[in-house]
Amino acid sequence: MGATRCSKVTGFNTFVIALLLSLTFIVISWLQDPRTLVPLVRVLDNKNRFLTTGSLNTTEDFGVFGPEKGLYNFTVVTGLMDIGRGSWSHQSRTYDQYLSYLRQVLRLDVNLVVYVDRKGQDFVEKTRHGRERHTKIIVMELVDLPYYRYKDRIAEIMNSTEYKTDNVLVQYHLCESYIPEYDIITLSKMYFINRTVWENPFQTSYFVWLDGGYSHGKDIYPKNSVWIPKGLFEYSDKVTFIEREPVKDYENKTDRLHKMTTGSLMGGFFAGGGQVLKELSQMQVELMNEWMKKGIIDDDQGAFMLLYFRKPSLFHLVKGEWNDVFKLFNVD
Ligand SMILES: *[C@@H]1O[C@H](CO)[C@@H](O)[C@H](O)[C@H]1NC(C)=O
Ligand SMILES: *[C@@H]1O[C@H](CO)[C@@H](O)[C@H](O)[C@H]1NC(C)=O
Ligand SMILES: *[C@@H]1O[C@H](CO)[C@@H](O)[C@H](O)[C@H]1NC(C)=O
Ligand SMILES: *[C@@H]1O[C@H](CO)[C@@H](O)[C@H](O)[C@H]1NC(C)=O
Ligand SMILES: *[C@@H]1O[C@H](CO)[C@@H](O)[C@H](O)[C@H]1NC(C)=O
Repeated sequence: MGATRCSKVTGFNTFVIALLLSLTFIVISWLQDPRTLVPLVRVLDNKNRFLTTGSLNTTEDFGVFGPEKGLYNFTVVTGLMDIGRGSWSHQSRTYDQYLSYLRQVLRLDVNLVVYVDRKGQDFVEKTRHGRERHTKIIVMELVDLPYYRYKDRIAEIMNSTEYKTDNVLVQYHLCESYIPEYDIITLSKMYFINRTVWENPFQTSYFVWLDGGYSHGKDIYPKNSVWIPKGLFEYSDKVTFIEREPVKDYENKTDRLHKMTTGSLMGGFFAGGGQVLKELSQMQVELMNEWMKKGIIDDDQGAFMLLYFRKPSLFHLVKGEWNDVFKLFNVD
């Protein structure tokens, strides 16, 4: 989730954690296919009518990992939670779509920590079949996130005259300006990362955040699922981000950044050593407290830009575009 700003009026959000719906209802069940004897994913509508087995073909999707061939000395963290996006009138995407995007991340032959809600748990478990030793699944719901306690305050801010005045996000009806859950989930990436660094289930010193919806289904992942990072580990005392346009251009606009559509720092990916990620998490928690007091709200990308101005030395910025992670940071 972030500029993944829902905002991108052009080129669409790349964001990770995904969102969902209440109109159409997606049910993941354990139906047995008589031919393959593997679980199927059934997609039902809100009246429980069978829609399709959808894009989730079990024969192809589950159990494709062969012998271990990845690099297992770093940890990738991702997540997917339903925030009702399937029923939005604008920028809508269903949970099923997000599961199919998430599948590509789940296929990476890496240590993977996945934060997912109950409805996505089975899908994650089955897709990671064969990599149980390199998979940690943490089941939690949106309401369990620490920032969820700000939901009413965020709604109040979004409804305030001060927030709406001269706000481009409001003018374009972008999700980060009127859906509190969207900002909560995108800002919570830092919570997922911090928690993973502390619990450190794979005992690594380096961590990567990748949105559950990263690339939105585009074929940009390493061919054999093996990711050997390059240009990351040597900067482990900083957090590496992809910089889409110079963040410095906004240095004198920090007071109104939360009303602008910039997505300079791409929120779909960031990576660093444990220590610096803990520090950045702490800084984000403090920023969030300030926002709530001052009546400001924005998504993760806006927060990352402001944190950059507070302490640029924590950041390692690499020029690139939304879907460039494996182009920039993978040994070929
Ligand atoms: C699922 O994948 C298998 C193997 O690629 C293919 O034979 C089958 O037709 C696919 N089923 C559906 C419903 O797409
Ligand atoms: C992981 O292992 C590779 C290959 O041995 C090494 O080059 C790299 O520095 C290691 N990375 C970390 C974070 O330990
Ligand atoms: C939004 O603002 C209007 C006008 O100030 C007020 O009547 C309404 O109760 C507010 N709604 C919420 C959800 O705060
Ligand atoms: C921001 O303001 C400072 C001081 O006025 C100025 O030197 C700098 O060039 C400005 N930055 C931008 C990007 O306009
Ligand atoms: C990071 O996680 C640790 C362990 O759960 C917790 O004590 C700490 O408060 C968290 N930091 C932030 C900034 O959330």
